[in-house]
Amino acid sequence: MPSSARVALVTGCGKPVGIGNSTARALAAAGVTVVVSDVSPAGVANEHNVQGDMDPNWIGIDSLVQAIVDAGGTASATLGNVSVEADAARMVDEVLRRYGRLDILVNNAGVTIDRTVAKMTDQDWQNVLAVNLSGAFFIAQAALDHMIERGTGRIVNMSSAIGETGNIGQANYAASKSGLFGLTKSLAREALFMLGRAERPPGDGIGLTVNGVTPGYVATDMLATIPEKVLDRLRAQIPMGRLGKPEEVARVVAFLAADESAYITGQIWSVNGGLDM
Ligand SMILES: NC(=O)c1ccc[n+]([C@@H]2O[C@H](COP(=O)([O-])OP(=O)(O)OC[C@H]3O[C@@H](n4cnc5c(N)ncnc54)[C@H](O)[C@@H]3O)[C@@H](O)[C@H]2O)c1
Repeated sequence: MPSSARVALVTGCGKPVGIGNSTARALAAAGVTVVVSDVSPAGVANEHNVQGDMDPNWIGIDSLVQAIVDAGGTASATLGNVSVEADAARMVDEVLRRYGRLDILVNNAGVTIDRTVAKMTDQDWQNVLAVNLSGAFFIAQAALDHMIERGTGRIVNMSSAIGETGNIGQANYAASKSGLFGLTKSLAREALFMLGRAERPPGDGIGLTVNGVTPGYVATDMLATIPEKVLDRLRAQIPMGRLGKPEEVARVVAFLAADESAYITGQIWSVNGGLDM
């Protein structure tokens, strides 16, 4: 089936420079109809992030929809908070009502609230887990029945290199991102099991795959408040000597989302400039 018949939902697309934005564009460029979403039209600032230098003409996901349409693609928007189960289910419902199908789900929405464990409040912990980990669970759960029924689907969870290494001041973020490894692999196994039970040969054709992506340090709003001196230190740790670009992560998501990537499931894909070599 050509990608033009595919429909994707991508969360966390509200920022002008972000992995969600680039992923939506990459999927649209491959011919996929994309529903872009965020918690508010312009996204939400991380507690430690700023949006002060944002393009004043940027009005969030509506601008992204327009940009995709201007480039010849098909897109629409929906708003919702991924950490609220009912909202997650409603977004999936909206896609199904609008297009009658959901082929590709990209769980990209994420936040940071950085504090050392000694200073981290219960709320700091809960809020980050709620968006980064429960959010992915809620939407995947809402999408699963439909994907099993049709026997095809792609779920890509945006984890992080920090989920593999941990980081000072990011226990909540690291836990949420390594939690996505377990969710990804369990969901990948369950999807195959359920396809088999539904008498849809799990290894046949396009199938239903679930994978994760672990970006290293990517130049987006998420790194916006890190002082230049600290960024220099980070760059020095990256064998490629520079931060990643959102589109360099997006192309891996688009690759995993393609029909042809049918034999890849339960895997975690690093995009990190060689950070962990
Ligand atoms: N930038 C990096 O260095 C980096 C590295 C590894 C992983 N990541 C991950 O990539 C993903 C995208 O991050 P980014 O760098 O583009 O940052 P970003 O802050 O630009 O994007 C995150 C998006 O998630 C949205 N969001 C936050 N809470 C939400 C909620 N409750 N419901 C719906 N949407 C919500 C925000 O509004 C924002 O648009 C995140 O999951 C992040 O953890 C980023």
